[in-house]
Order: sequence, then structure tokens, then C-alpha cells
Amino acid sequence: MNSWNLKILSFAVILMIGTSKAFAGAGIATAHSLATEAGISMLQMGGNAFDAAVAISSTLAVVEPGSSGMGGGGFWLLYDAAKRQSIMLDGREKAPLQASRDMYLDDKGDVIANLSIDGPLSAGIPGQPAALVWLAENYGSLPLSVLLEPSINAAQRGFAVSNGVQSKIKWRKDQLKNYPSTAEIFLNGGNIPEVGELLVQEDLANVLQALAERGHDGFYSGPVAETLVKGVQEAGGIWTIEDFNQYEVAVRVPVTFTYRNMKITAAALPSSGGIVLAEALNILEYYDITKLDEADLIHVVVEAARRAYRDRAEYLGDPDFVSVPVDMLVSKNYASGLNQSIRMDSATKSDDLAPITVTTGEGGNTTHFSVIDSNNNMVAATLSINYLFGSGFIPPNTGVLLNNEMDDFSLRPGSPNIYGLVGSDANSIEAGKRMLSSMTPTFIEDDQRIAILGAPGGSRIITMVLLGILEFEKGADANSIVSRPRFHHQYLPDVIQFEKNAPNADVLSALESRGHQFKILDRTWGNMQTVIFEKSSGTVSAASDPRGQGTSWQAN
Ligand code: GLY
Repeated sequence: MNSWNLKILSFAVILMIGTSKAFAGAGIATAHSLATEAGISMLQMGGNAFDAAVAISSTLAVVEPGSSGMGGGGFWLLYDAAKRQSIMLDGREKAPLQASRDMYLDDKGDVIANLSIDGPLSAGIPGQPAALVWLAENYGSLPLSVLLEPSINAAQRGFAVSNGVQSKIKWRKDQLKNYPSTAEIFLNGGNIPEVGELLVQEDLANVLQALAERGHDGFYSGPVAETLVKGVQEAGGIWTIEDFNQYEVAVRVPVTFTYRNMKITAAALPSSGGIVLAEALNILEYYDITKLDEADLIHVVVEAARRAYRDRAEYLGDPDFVSVPVDMLVSKNYASGLNQSIRMDSATKSDDLAPITVTTGEGGNTTHFSVIDSNNNMVAATLSINYLFGSGFIPPNTGVLLNNEMDDFSLRPGSPNIYGLVGSDANSIEAGKRMLSSMTPTFIEDDQRIAILGAPGGSRIITMVLLGILEFEKGADANSIVSRPRFHHQYLPDVIQFEKNAPNADVLSALESRGHQFKILDRTWGNMQTVIFEKSSGTVSAASDPRGQGTSWQAN
């Protein structure tokens, strides 16, 4: 009997003893039941939270194909309990080496519609495969072949299309139709697949198998890399083998700061998440948040977000390429200065902060999961191919759906991306540079509890996490944190966005009388996944956002 058979046997014994006893203190929340199960199975085989994270990430790449994938990237915020150390694993995509600053502009200097959103030119060099190998090799305890098995099975045997996946395919059908290599996987003879139909991804299974067998080189050199590059070039893209030779993950020091009695650990550059959160929460420390009425709370959160997102646009970009005044932006002194311009009785005009006019963008996909194991190792990971189904392009014979993260660069200073976000030179395109992100995997800790959380949703991610932190401050449980009604402001456009279940008319009129403009969307946003650990009892509770179709699991 080899060691794996032994592990499987001991797993069966453990199951007989009872899951809750064997894994007490472990919890998982992901956006898909098969990903949650993949994570549980790794813990059951004796793996740690990092093993679970590899299995979950790769399974989400298969079963939530519109949101993240092997053709994309992400940030894995890791807490190693033995070392008592947090790091951020940066598997963000990079601009191809042949990319250039004005590549999406026409002769007049105007942005060419959709070039950074649809097709091979919109894709950065994927980072997720490299990140999964790095995570397994440096933090995991099980072999990569075991960690990738659930995803390979799901790709080979197929997974049942849910109504969520079906509606996302419907939403992006026109782009998916443009490429036969994409259409043959996601459209059944050109039609939207039925709910319950099996979606098989054999080529993707082969790519995952190559990664399982050859590690980093399985994706970044040899047949997989060559086929990806050939497919991209033949479709008009600019990828080269050199892009693949050069791609490597980065290990970043997370942004850490205090908010009242809490310690927050969040994503560092090239994500804007941690810095924007710190700046906004430092301002909010000047207000007794738990005692404010609803209109006052929305007002001060909007004013804080307005200022923090404004600085995002001005200062933030890839720290390997630009110098960013991070210490200043996250300092309490800086927030004190910003707070002096906030008045309770009137809204600041964003145009008074910076003279740029933009229009709003919609959309926003991505995925988030949270994991803790029984040794208190933790992972908060937010992964993306950017827009729904990314670029819509799968290089033939690879099954790898490419991202369209190039749209997260500032294509032209002041010009909004698909989320309506503007940027400056700090986030302009350069060969090999990582595009600025809003993905915000986060740990929150006070003297009683630790929460692991994050969400998908483009530019709205940061305000979702901020509202989650304010719920945590009130003592809310995991379910209340993920369910909380949401609003959003991002400096430009100068409008508060509300989900369809907006506050009542009195609250809206109190905001209007201060000069706020607002828009009530006909939908909700986000799909937050949260795990909370109670320090005194060692118990865990996990929750998946009711807006999505995720599942959570905990063992106590
Ligand atoms: N692609 C969305 C983000 O990284 O913010």
C-alpha cells in the first residue's frame, strides 16, 4: 500500500470518527460547491489551508469559468500560523513585452472601443498557474498532482451548468461566439447550454495535467506555452514565448493598519485594495460609526471613499515600476488632513478634488474564497480574468480562456476603464508591468475574533470589504457580513450607487438634501465569502453571500 492509499484509508477512518472532531476549527467559503468540496477533500487528506487553496483555485477555474481561471491571475493573502506571518502572493497578470503605452489609442489619441476588453490583445500574461505551483511548493504539504486532481476531474468529466453559469454565458454570448475555439466549449452548437447539462473541458484538463506533472514549466514552457502563444499570435495578439519565460510571481508585504481596536491585513500593490481601505478607514476613525443613523453613515463612508478612490486614481500603480507614496497614503496624519474637508451637512463635489469627467462602467466579475485550517493557517484569495469570461478568447486546443486584465491599466490618463475607474501615469501600460487591481483579500482581527473575507466586483470590491469591516465592528456574524445591503462611491462618477434594495425614501432624501446624487441599480452586486474564527472557543463559522450560489463549510 503506497502512502496515498494509506492517506485515503486514514481519511475514511477519520470520516467514521466524525468530521467535526477531526477538523475542529476549519472552515471554507467559496463561490461554488465543487470548489468547497475540493478544499474539504484536501483538509481531509491531511492537507493544510494552503493545499485547500490550490485545490479550490484550480477547481474554480473549471466550474466558474466566467470569473477566474488558468488564463488569469489573482492575489492569495496567506497567514502562516507557525511563523505568525502574513504575505501576499501576487499572481497578477503582466503586460506582454510587446505592449506599449498607447496600444489602445487611435491616431487621434482616442481609446479604440473594446480593444482592451475583447479578444487576444486584451489579455495579460497569466499568473494563476505560476501562483498555484509556488503556493504548493512553498506552503503546501500535498503533491501538486493531488491538489489538482479535483479540477482535472471536473474538467474531464464535466460539471453541471448552474443557472448562474448559464446566465453568465447568456450575458457574454456575442463575444463567446466570435471565436470557434471558445464557442465549441461554452456554446452547445451555438446555443446557450441547458441548466444541468455537463460542460466538459478536455483541453483544459490536459493543461492542468501538464501543470500537475511538470509544475511551472508545464504551463510556461513546452507545448502548452507554445500552443497558447501561437493561438494568440494567429488571432492578432502580441504574446511571445519570452513573456512566458519571464513570468514569475511576486511575494509582497501586505498592507497592515489598525482601525479602532482592529488589525487589518489586506492586499498590497499592485492591488489598490489595502491602501484605499486604509485611507478610507483612517478617515472613518473620526466618526462613531456604530452610533450614526443610516443617512449619516452613508454620508461619511461616501466622503471617505471619495477621497481614497481619488488618490487611487492619482498615485497607484505597479510598485515594481513606479514609486508610490504608500506610507503617506496610509498614515493617520494624512487622514486627519483629508477629514478636515468633510462636512456633515453637505457633500463634497468630486470635481472640487480633481477636474476629470468620466462615465460609469458596469460589469465586474472575479471570484473570492476564504479558508482556515485547524492549525489556524488562513487564506483569503481573490482571483480574476477581469470581465465576465475575460477576453472571450480561448487559443485553439488549450481550453484556457484568456483574461482581459489589460483594461485595468489606465489606457489614457483620465479615461475610464470598464468599471469607470480613472488613472494616471502611475498605472499606464509598460512592457512587463502589472495592471492596478481592486481585488482586496483581507484579514480582520480584534481581541475576540478573526475574519477572512473578500469579494468579486471590480471597482466595488473595496467598498464591499469596507462595509464588511464595519459590520464586523458591530459584532455581526458571518451571515450578516456577507448579506449586508451595499452602496458604493468611487470618486468618479460623482454618484452613490445603491443595490436594488436601496434605503428608504427618508434616508435618500436626507442624502439628496446634502447634495449627493445617487443611482439605484436594478440588481445587487458582489459574492462575498467569509470565515470567522472565535478566539476563545476556537470555533469557526463560514458564510457565502446569498447573492451568489456559493457554499460554506465549517467543522467545530
Ligand atoms: N480585474 C479586476 C481587478 O483586478 O480589480
